[in-house]
Amino acid sequence: MTTAELSTALPEIITAQVPGPKSKELLDRRDAAIPKALCGKAYPICIKQGAGAMFEDLDGNKFLDWVGGVGVLNIGYSHPEVIEAVKKQTEKYFHTIFNVYVHDGYVTLAERLNEIMPCKGEVKKTYFANSGAECDENAIKIAKAFTKRSGVICFTGAFHGRTNLTMALTAKKVYAVGMGPFPAGIYRAPYPYVYRAPKGYTEAEAIQYYIDELNRIFDEGAPASEIACMIVEPFQGEGGFIPAPIEWVKAVRKICDENGILMIADEVQCGNCRTGKYYASEYWAEAGAAPDIITTAKSLGAGLPISAITARAEIMDAAPAGTIGGTFCGNPVACASALAVMDIMKRDDYAGKARHIGEVVTARYKELQAKYPVIGDVRGLGAMIGLELVKDRDTKEPATEIAGKLIQNAIQKGLLLESCGTASNVIRFLAPLTMTDEQMEKGLEIFEAALKEAIEG
Ligand SMILES: Cc1ncc(COP(=O)(O)O)c(C=O)c1O
Repeated sequence: MTTAELSTALPEIITAQVPGPKSKELLDRRDAAIPKALCGKAYPICIKQGAGAMFEDLDGNKFLDWVGGVGVLNIGYSHPEVIEAVKKQTEKYFHTIFNVYVHDGYVTLAERLNEIMPCKGEVKKTYFANSGAECDENAIKIAKAFTKRSGVICFTGAFHGRTNLTMALTAKKVYAVGMGPFPAGIYRAPYPYVYRAPKGYTEAEAIQYYIDELNRIFDEGAPASEIACMIVEPFQGEGGFIPAPIEWVKAVRKICDENGILMIADEVQCGNCRTGKYYASEYWAEAGAAPDIITTAKSLGAGLPISAITARAEIMDAAPAGTIGGTFCGNPVACASALAVMDIMKRDDYAGKARHIGEVVTARYKELQAKYPVIGDVRGLGAMIGLELVKDRDTKEPATEIAGKLIQNAIQKGLLLESCGTASNVIRFLAPLTMTDEQMEKGLEIFEAALKEAIEG
């Protein structure tokens, strides 16, 4: 099957079960050669090729991918124009170390991001790192350099990566077992998870509750004058696909402004057209609450490792020479990929595609919610949609087991799903935005069938 054919194909499982024999053989080799921590049993899948929102495994099974490399594949697998741009760059040179000498792709990509990043300020600057964790860590370094303060506020449910600092910022401790000690000066406030706010609260009361809890840090953790920054995911990913309500964001912006604290929007997962805007912080900017610093990664390079940190020039210029940069940061091939991605996403209105997919999938998820009491909540922004499974709509006890079964059933029918949330009971939707309407329809059919089977047993 050619990649062109695969991009419009529908899911189809042709082996008696997944994994088929060829995938099984590679999985066995993986188990022998790779550390156990990277050999989870949940996804018995080995890829042969991918195109659009589809991939084929080694045994010829065709899957529709609603995980998208956890937010990396907004533009789909192997977009032909991105391949072309990457090939052209590799024919010229693979690498320069930007701290030593300059290549055009780095500067051009920075200029393009400076034009569109919805953070505060007229004149912006950008620099690059290699991963989500690295750009978050760099944003904090920049905030410390600018404010000359050391404290950092993060939130419950947050995921910011697996370096020492970002493990400390990350809430779910399964990501950091036995890895301490962690840096001091990190304080955690509850993220505005309105669905799980104290019982009986209206949304407005819940938001006030979360703001009061945040303010408590200044009495019980560290004075506001010692806090450099707060780091927030506009649409929390790993923590359970939870949007930050705009009234909460406005109140946080006010606290930051009153206390000289920088507000960092972590758009590693939710950026690059996922939420129906190019960057989710556009929603904040429209409400008069633009962040000071934006970080992004994942779909920025369509799979090549690159991440970006953007802020107004006065913040960015505060870092002393030598404190930022790195060997592979802003690699020319990754920059070429990111520039091609940006051209395509703007030309083909990927934010519009996200809004279209989001409307269809959210409407269908809500229909399912009316039919199946196990679906406690459906929430989304564009094509970033969370569906939370609970044992009881009143107690909201997480239905973790049903979520696990749903994922396994879906795999056997050719749909790739993934969970998130502290209790792994939220199904996250991150399908490539290149998915066709026919594929989306088929995916929704499979989703319901897999859910029904999971509920029945
Ligand atoms: C919001 C957010 N920040 C940071 C990261 C860390 O990114 P990486 O795995 O590229 O280090 C992730 C990864 O899932 C993320 O979702």
